[in-house]
Amino acid sequence: MELFDVYSLFDVTPVKASGCTVWDDKGTQYLDLYGGHAVISVGHCHPKYVAALTEQAGKIGFYSNSVKNPLQVELAHKLGKASGYDDYFLFLDNSGAESNENALKMASFHTGKDRIIAFRKSFHGRTSGAVAATDNPSIVSPFNAVHKVTFCDLNDAEGVEEELAKGDVAGVIIEGIQGCGGINIPSEEFMKDLRALCSCYGAVLILDEVQSGYGRTGRFFAHQWTGIRPDIITMGKGIANGFPCGGILLSPEFEAVKGRLGTTFGGNYLAMAAANAVLDIIEEENLVQNAFETGEYLRSNIPSSPLIKEVRGRGLMLGIEFNCDISLIRRSLLYDRHIFTGVAGKTIIRLLAPLCLSKEEAGIFINALKELI
Ligand SMILES: Cc1ncc(COP(=O)(O)O)c(C=O)c1O
Repeated sequence: MELFDVYSLFDVTPVKASGCTVWDDKGTQYLDLYGGHAVISVGHCHPKYVAALTEQAGKIGFYSNSVKNPLQVELAHKLGKASGYDDYFLFLDNSGAESNENALKMASFHTGKDRIIAFRKSFHGRTSGAVAATDNPSIVSPFNAVHKVTFCDLNDAEGVEEELAKGDVAGVIIEGIQGCGGINIPSEEFMKDLRALCSCYGAVLILDEVQSGYGRTGRFFAHQWTGIRPDIITMGKGIANGFPCGGILLSPEFEAVKGRLGTTFGGNYLAMAAANAVLDIIEEENLVQNAFETGEYLRSNIPSSPLIKEVRGRGLMLGIEFNCDISLIRRSLLYDRHIFTGVAGKTIIRLLAPLCLSKEEAGIFINALKELI
């Protein structure tokens, strides 16, 4: 049997990793400014993370959500404290898309309505409702496209109000910072308008923090830069540093109805051991602050060049937009300088380094970029 060939692969086979360093099967060492697509939060193979998973695997790996699991309760307490959302409720699932699916479903259950507002250039995942709310027709099948989703422009409060006023909108879903769309930050004013509009028209405000959350931008969630509180926050990626895990935070206004949400694997012991270790490490090593400081250092030292149009982002979620196609620059960074980076579209290099990136490591990238452009 062959693999279903849907991924474009770089010719690199990682076999070992530590912190922000990855080694391939030939022993070549790489600097990781991509974090496996924003997933590695506390660094690869952090000793406390490895110990927590190893110890848990030797105790009990899985049962089901029909029995008590104190590790889930521990995570809810820790997450409430770390995020400032102590009064919200936590539902655990397995991925970012599933988190958004659950959030959209809860918005519809809660309001009894069925239309969703999403934004141009959004990405919310590949499952049915999540992909329907994603602004990329090439990955939306006819089956997905039956969902009622209206796309508005980012930062266009008037356009959103026009749609909300029609009275059939269950929820508005927006990324804390658009990732795949090219590191686009919604303005503070717009986020405040969105909050007020959703409250006024009885729609649920969903913040997709799958990529921008968990400390990446220098606040626990990216929307916390704007001072608003959404009704539902969705999480994934960095939550368990690579162990599959996702979750949603629901405000106290949501009623928990038995059986309404569920999943076999969500909140399992291994995911919980990983997720609890992640929050412990984030706190002990002050990684949210480190993401902010190292990110600012990185951003302010990106060389100015006629090739670079703009540098956007916050903390360790940065986009460097070029005036040209970046595929050669990115290939050279990987194969010649041995630095992993991400991409958005054809012109934007996307940096999503582990939150433990040091200024010295950031400096390696800055020097490599200076030499390349
Ligand atoms: C903002 C955002 N939401 C949702 C997802 C989907 O997450 P997953 O791939 O874990 O389903 C992603 C993945 O890149 C994302 O960036």
